[in-house]
Amino acid sequence: MSQPAYLPSSIARARNIADLRRMARERLPRMVFDYIDGGADDEVTLARNVSRFRDIELVWEALKDVDKIDTSTTIMGAPSASPFFISPTATSRLFHPRAGELAVARAAHAAGVPYTCSTLASASVEEIAAVNPGPKWFQVYVWRDRELVKEVLARAKAAGFSAIILTVDVPVVGNRERDGANDFTVPPKVTWRTATQALAAPGYLWDLATTSEIRPANFTHIRMNTGLIDFINAQFDRAVTWDDVRWLRETWDGKLAIKGIATPEDAQRCVSIGADAVWVSNHGGRQLDTAPASIDTLPAIADAVAGKVEIILDGGVRRGSDVVKALALGANAVAIGRAYLYGLAAGGEAGVRRALDIIDSEVRRTMALCGRTQLSALSRDLIFRRALP
Ligand code: GLV
Repeated sequence: MSQPAYLPSSIARARNIADLRRMARERLPRMVFDYIDGGADDEVTLARNVSRFRDIELVWEALKDVDKIDTSTTIMGAPSASPFFISPTATSRLFHPRAGELAVARAAHAAGVPYTCSTLASASVEEIAAVNPGPKWFQVYVWRDRELVKEVLARAKAAGFSAIILTVDVPVVGNRERDGANDFTVPPKVTWRTATQALAAPGYLWDLATTSEIRPANFTHIRMNTGLIDFINAQFDRAVTWDDVRWLRETWDGKLAIKGIATPEDAQRCVSIGADAVWVSNHGGRQLDTAPASIDTLPAIADAVAGKVEIILDGGVRRGSDVVKALALGANAVAIGRAYLYGLAAGGEAGVRRALDIIDSEVRRTMALCGRTQLSALSRDLIFRRALP
């Protein structure tokens, strides 16, 4: 992947995603950083998503010709230069008020990987399509107001979004305690605490003050007097079941992925209902705390799905070696969330490009070190089996 000529030197110096995270922390008001960085309750799942990748050890096949590494693939029918893509994240302008979704969509297109737009995006599907002619998908919830869902799906389709991602792990919003401690709401309210934090981040505050109001751009006709989380809670239908997924499957004639699957039984239900992909996820540890790490739930799901549909995984991916491990354990592709948000917050479009470039080069280096040149050759024999715990 080529870097844009204007890549600021500070962004270019980021060696890894952890560096971008540090830069994001410096630029953002604490409440916004914590909203990206935090998880539910005691953040057990948040931490495990990352640490369990570290526990998995890779071995290599020696003396293989690894001169030409090929990371190109297709994900849900879309060509991708790498086996990863942009996960949906709500209200990206919060993390960089000037750049937001449009910068992420541009960076994804430049990197040749699919972009996923959140239902709660702060740019409209039409605006995103105007800057990203490449593969793009739209994330949805089944809301109480089914007409609202149908309306936004029709708009996404008309704008060229080829797949929808149904998120199923949010029957209620998880308990993110950092947000409470920071008085953080979306959109932020002015309190002593939020004002103090914002004043400590003048660059961010300037962007916020000199750009348009941050709102859910696909639902501008909806009045949100009470804030995003209340809007979500009002619209989330706690009675949604597999019957509603059937309704969605019939309503949408493009590709469909079901995101937020943690068991082989649910994965099989996705297959029977006609989904095109099972998306193994615990919402980045932001929903049910003490849920197992995504990577730990993957092998049994891959066995149950047995190649009938594609498997996507997210949760804890901070290194290209994590992507390689997920593919070796049965995923077809990996979705990147926080890793690109740190880049976005640190440096707008250039930061997202840097994040994608870092992970891409780490994937290539890991494949070479493992002695594998093709994604299809990333198999379980690369995972070291410990004789002792
Ligand atoms: C939204 O999906 C969030 O996790 O904040």
